[in-house]
Amino acid sequence: MLLYGASGHAKVINSILRATGQEVTAIFDDDLGKKNLGDIAVVGQYDPDFQTAAPLIISIGYNDIRRKVAGKIRHRFGRAIHPSALIDETATIGEGTVIMPGVIVQADARIGRHVIVNTAATVDHDCLLGDFVHIAPGVVLCGAVQVGESTLIGAGCVVAPNLTIGANCLIAAGSVVTTHIPDGATVRGNPARVVGNFEAGSPR
Ligand SMILES: CC(C)(COP(=O)(O)OP(=O)(O)OC[C@H]1O[C@@H](n2cnc3c(N)ncnc32)[C@H](O)[C@@H]1OP(=O)(O)O)[C@@H](O)C(=O)NCCC(=O)NCCS
Repeated sequence: MLLYGASGHAKVINSILRATGQEVTAIFDDDLGKKNLGDIAVVGQYDPDFQTAAPLIISIGYNDIRRKVAGKIRHRFGRAIHPSALIDETATIGEGTVIMPGVIVQADARIGRHVIVNTAATVDHDCLLGDFVHIAPGVVLCGAVQVGESTLIGAGCVVAPNLTIGANCLIAAGSVVTTHIPDGATVRGNPARVVGNFEAGSPR
């Protein structure tokens, strides 16, 4: 497996892959000052002719950067799913997506491409996660929640059933979402309130 982004997020993905018997053979990074991440070589900028048969995962936590990088990748995309994750056999998981330790994904959930479902998050039945979404550690998505493309649901949030959260939203850590959320909203609190439009370019 190749990674793109020699980040802390890459360390976690590497750990997941090792737990499944896979090896990261090299990491691309635009920062030419980076030479290695632990014992893995950082080989510089993306090269479509490097290890062309190897799958690749974009190991960048920022949703919009992950999206921009995805557009230029010529390798096929891999997935990283930790063995401790419980994923119902009816759930679907897109390419490039990373499922961290302790995650639970319930029946008929659909998870898009290049999504991060972070440590111990739960995604209940019939949830629909768009591409480039990040579900942060400890989030609880109740049944049939829909999350639009590139939205970050911050650590420890709870989203009540049947709600729709738009694209490019930032849901602050610890929020309890009880209403539909429009595209581009920044939201925080319990109950969560829209406090602005997310314009900074990249949900964290
Ligand atoms: C919302 C967030 C991005 C901070 O945004 P920010 O604009 O830098 O906010 P600031 O720290 O300047 O705080 C602005 C105000 O929001 C409040 N605030 C910040 N984060 C908050 C949160 N999670 N819930 C409630 N209020 C919050 C601050 O207390 C402050 O209030 P005040 O104006 O009354 O003093 C950040 O707190 C957050 O929740 N990020 C998500 C992190 C995450 O889960 N990432 C995933 C990592 S794996």
